Amino acid sequence: MTKKRLLTGLQPSGTLHIGNYFGALKPFVDTYQDYESHLMIADLHALTTLRDSALLRQNTIDVVKDYLAAGVDPYKAIIFKQSDVKEHTELAWIFECLVTVPFLMQGHAYKDKVAKGLEPTAGLFNYPMLMAADILLYDAEVVPVGEDQRQHIEYAREAAAKFNQAYGEVFKAPQELIQKSLGVVPGTDGQKMSKSYKNTIPLFSAREEILKAVMAIVTDSSGERPEHVYAIHKLLKSEEELTTLYAEQKGKYKNLKEALAEDLDAFIAPMREVRASITDNDVKAVLESGAARARERTSAKMQIVREAVGISL
Ligand code: TRP
Repeated sequence: MTKKRLLTGLQPSGTLHIGNYFGALKPFVDTYQDYESHLMIADLHALTTLRDSALLRQNTIDVVKDYLAAGVDPYKAIIFKQSDVKEHTELAWIFECLVTVPFLMQGHAYKDKVAKGLEPTAGLFNYPMLMAADILLYDAEVVPVGEDQRQHIEYAREAAAKFNQAYGEVFKAPQELIQKSLGVVPGTDGQKMSKSYKNTIPLFSAREEILKAVMAIVTDSSGERPEHVYAIHKLLKSEEELTTLYAEQKGKYKNLKEALAEDLDAFIAPMREVRASITDNDVKAVLESGAARARERTSAKMQIVREAVGISL
């Protein structure tokens, strides 16, 4: 049976936390081999919000290391960076000539970012058409994304429809695969774990850092057990194991936190070691070979597009 094509994109946005791991990385690692998978580092998309070349470079290297350390095999998925495959921007332009400004103006992400004070650049505005190109260039049928990206997939379907209507059937309609994370991963204050709330436990952190983050978990003595400690612990251990532990250590928050830190460290240590063994040059080699394989797919597809629109003579 031929596998369906999957493509997902990641913004290189800095240090991952365990919320990212359980919400996105782990679901990807667990399922990507069921598909012909493409993992794209969206460095051009990152330019819409990041203007620090050293940081972009560093974040790009880091995110690849993170995924490799978490278990993605670069022979089983094509890992590449968006800017290495020029067809992405070329196709985005063609889509931009097909969709209207009022249509793009309905973008939630654009409106939210501008409301938060970001400059309303043309790049930010056209963001969904670059993302449509990312997906449609590969005829990707399955696109794993978070709930916040749902509208972007609709934009991709619309770009495909507009193109097909104008030039004939060239693109397939993609489907989002909204990642069912194992519920919301709570942060150290009980809210959703998120960098913007400063309540994270970094994924590849050292033992002392883990302990420090865990000790900072907010506890209150109203309930049966320290709920925020328990909620994170539940990601690592079964309910039976925890019931015994939390009964034995009832009221002893410090001991429970130490037990959680211990379990987190045991869980993180093997990935941390793998990550430390991956060099920047390893990452560059992975991206280079990924880009070459990605281009094999996009060059043929783009030739069809160029002929359809009339720019190839
Ligand atoms: N916009 C996505 C995000 O911020 C990243 C992304 C870019 C993407 N291109 C993509 C995701 C293509 C899926 C498919 O999370």
